[in-house]
Amino acid sequence: MKILITGAKGQLGQTFQDVFAGHNLILADREELDISDSEKVEKYVEAKKPEVILNCAAYTAVDKAEEEPEIARKINVDGVKNLAQEAKKLNSIFVHFSTDFVFDGKKDIPYTEEDQPSPLSVYGKTKYQGEQAVADTGGRYFILRTSWLYSQHGKNFVKTIMKLGQEKDELKIVSDQIGKPTYTYDLAFSVRDLIDFSVAQPQTPNSQKFYGLYNYSNEGECSWFEFAKEIVKLSGGKARVLPQTAYEYAASREGVTAERPAYSSLNCDKIKKLGIKTPPWQESLTKCIEILKSNKEL
Ligand SMILES: NC(=O)c1ccc[n+]([C@@H]2O[C@H](COP(=O)([O-])OP(=O)(O)OC[C@H]3O[C@@H](n4cnc5c(N)ncnc54)[C@H](OP(=O)(O)O)[C@@H]3O)[C@@H](O)[C@H]2O)c1
Repeated sequence: MKILITGAKGQLGQTFQDVFAGHNLILADREELDISDSEKVEKYVEAKKPEVILNCAAYTAVDKAEEEPEIARKINVDGVKNLAQEAKKLNSIFVHFSTDFVFDGKKDIPYTEEDQPSPLSVYGKTKYQGEQAVADTGGRYFILRTSWLYSQHGKNFVKTIMKLGQEKDELKIVSDQIGKPTYTYDLAFSVRDLIDFSVAQPQTPNSQKFYGLYNYSNEGECSWFEFAKEIVKLSGGKARVLPQTAYEYAASREGVTAERPAYSSLNCDKIKKLGIKTPPWQESLTKCIEILKSNKEL
């Protein structure tokens, strides 16, 4: 398959390069293809004619987005729409990623695809508008809502806590926000399964029902505090991990301006009904930390 990966240097973009190794990959980082440049996107996609577009490009700086709402919107809404439209013209499969931060966190059971988003932050709002832009464009699309991503690539919570756990004696971590940590490789293999299913489907009006919005997270929920405790334990760190409220955390640091949902677990029953697996978060975290330890990437 000919697959275009946008945002190819981000943590999910790099994961897909491993998961789809052996395919004809077109790797586009921001320099190669700025997704917010509609003319460039049109020319680029028309010239390359990918059968699948994996959109891993996004404005992901949750706090900074509060100061730069226009830039965040240009990338997370306009950029996404540019790609979705080009995918539709070619009848290519378009895969886009969204976030648990589209919810306000007022529920106390996991959010389904049917729940109404009500984002608290600029980042969450732009990601929700991006989802809507894809759905309005139509075509053969998948939107995967996911949460708390980590991997051996890029910057993420697991790598930060592993490092701090070795350097510091004590770490204070937010204990009143609950969600589902998710290993990018589990997400990426699920996307591979979704694409395999859809390629195998005869292209009838009925097969359109198969496309659409899916939640995908690892199984089980925890707070950032519980997540950090597990990371320090599995990586052999020395730091004592202590709980702190989100309010205390924001008050103790510069630049923590975005409001985050207190509860943002995703219900993944819809994707599991297709036979797609959601391994327990502790199991996937163990795998990732083993890789990080063997790479000595700390
Ligand atoms: N990380 C999480 O915890 C999390 C949770 C839920 C959902 N998601 C979603 O999952 C997806 C992947 O996230 P990630 O963690 O892999 O993010 P990431 O590591 O921040 O990667 C995003 C990539 O997009 C690139 N990019 C930014 N603006 C661009 C533009 N205008 N044109 C082309 N590329 C651009 C960035 O390049 P530069 O580095 O040059 O800016 C970066 O390489 C995103 O849609 C995100 O919203 C992430």
